[in-house]
Amino acid sequence: MTKQEKLDELADNILSANITPELAKQATQLVFGTGNPNSDVIFVGEAPGKNEDLRGLPFVGAAGKFLDEMLTSINIDRGKIYITNIIKYRPPNNRDPKPSEKKAFWPYLLKQIQVIQPKAIVTLGRHSGEAFIPNLHISADHGKKRRLKVIQDGQESSIVILPLYHPAAALYNGSLRDTSIKDFQIIKTFMNFRKN
Ligand code: URA
Repeated sequence: MTKQEKLDELADNILSANITPELAKQATQLVFGTGNPNSDVIFVGEAPGKNEDLRGLPFVGAAGKFLDEMLTSINIDRGKIYITNIIKYRPPNNRDPKPSEKKAFWPYLLKQIQVIQPKAIVTLGRHSGEAFIPNLHISADHGKKRRLKVIQDGQESSIVILPLYHPAAALYNGSLRDTSIKDFQIIKTFMNFRKN
């Protein structure tokens, strides 16, 4: 099976396991993730918003436009990377995800990561950052790379985690905006796209 086939199967598993039925009921569709399954880096946001819910793709609204702008500023084409969220259905009225919802989707995010095997994960926003870095303080910790030890099939390796501000938070705040654009430069230090 190709990586994409494995990811498609994972998305089907979420549907058949009826994960977070309350969220599923009111959402238009599952927003699983998009991009290059061979990417060295995965971007992980919080949850789909209205536009994402309608189109079935992550980060296609205003925050996504700013994300694209920041990617362009470091010469990265969105199609080259993989983008997903912690929560795969839009929460009603864009409320914060509940701990139970984050917990329900966590194994699926881990499996997405296992399939893609990125060298780095860029978390966008507090919810995503906290999922990987316990006790994260986004205002102090943004833009600081860490290494997370991972053991897969008995093999030990490490993965870079870079916590960043959420593009929606930075979008309309001049100083956070500048900080985010600056933090994005750090991504260049660990980007090394595999062929494909
Ligand atoms: N905000 C997110 O966290 N994810 C999206 O997909 C869109 C907006």
